[in-house]
Amino acid sequence: KKPRITVIGSINMDLVTKTSTVPKVGETVIGESYFTIPGGKGANQAVAAARLGAEVTLIGCVGDDTFGGELKRHLAQQEVSTDYIKTISDTSTGIAAITLSEGDNSIIVVPGANNFVTPEVVKHHEHLIAKSDIVLLQLEIPLSSVLEATELAQKHNVPVILNPAPIQNLPKDLVLQVDYMTPNEHEQEMLLSNSELSAAELSQIKEKCIVTQGSKGVKLYQTEEQLIPSYPVEAVDSTGAGDSFNGALAVSLSKGMSLQEACQFANAVGALSVTKLGAQAGMPTLEEVEKFMSAY
Ligand code: RIB
Ligand code: NA
Repeated sequence: KKPRITVIGSINMDLVTKTSTVPKVGETVIGESYFTIPGGKGANQAVAAARLGAEVTLIGCVGDDTFGGELKRHLAQQEVSTDYIKTISDTSTGIAAITLSEGDNSIIVVPGANNFVTPEVVKHHEHLIAKSDIVLLQLEIPLSSVLEATELAQKHNVPVILNPAPIQNLPKDLVLQVDYMTPNEHEQEMLLSNSELSAAELSQIKEKCIVTQGSKGVKLYQTEEQLIPSYPVEAVDSTGAGDSFNGALAVSLSKGMSLQEACQFANAVGALSVTKLGAQAGMPTLEEVEKFMSAY
């Protein structure tokens, strides 16, 4: 049976500029190239999971501009169900202005239509949440909606993975309720610096963290600290590596893999994804991951 994954999250068009020099404030530089390519953490994670063979539904919003139409068509091509993507009139589709320099990136996200993924929209799709094997969330839609989704998932005993990116101060209820969190090192530091949390709560939160550390791999804190190493690859573009990891983690956990196995699998997916330019380019199929992993 195919794992059923519901992603509630952002859909962006990535406007990517490749440059060898990143301009300082007030400076102008000549870049190398520019391209527009589908992105958004929600959409990226949905596509990652779909390529791996899951049945994926994305709940989200786009604007009534050309990007909105393009992104919906693109998602459908990737076999992500777009039946629950709403088009909002007089609103721009979310964009991410990305500067790519030597494989590393800096990003400005303008949410646009993503802000219309309200708690009411989430509540309206309770039936989809209820029949999911896992719900996958990020922080590019209103926080109140992330909370609503988490509460509904919990009501129906559906596990939640929260990718706390882009990081912001999170209510205690949310971090205590989700089942897994996938911060990077910086995001984890922020999560654990919340002064409202007791020592017991802090260790409870730490235990659900799967800390992504780029090419180093991921850290787990189940009974003891553990490093699940990643695979060495030549990184062309790290954009979306975390999203590939999250999509893959959702798939492998839905299939009942242990957390260690799931992370190893997701590491392979993340590694493959950085070998191609663009967030979703390079996201592998299940066959490609298996081939890649067995070569090690
Ligand atoms: O995680 C990468 C994504 O973050 C990009 O695709 C961009 O859209 C931003 O949302
Ligand atoms: Na990529």
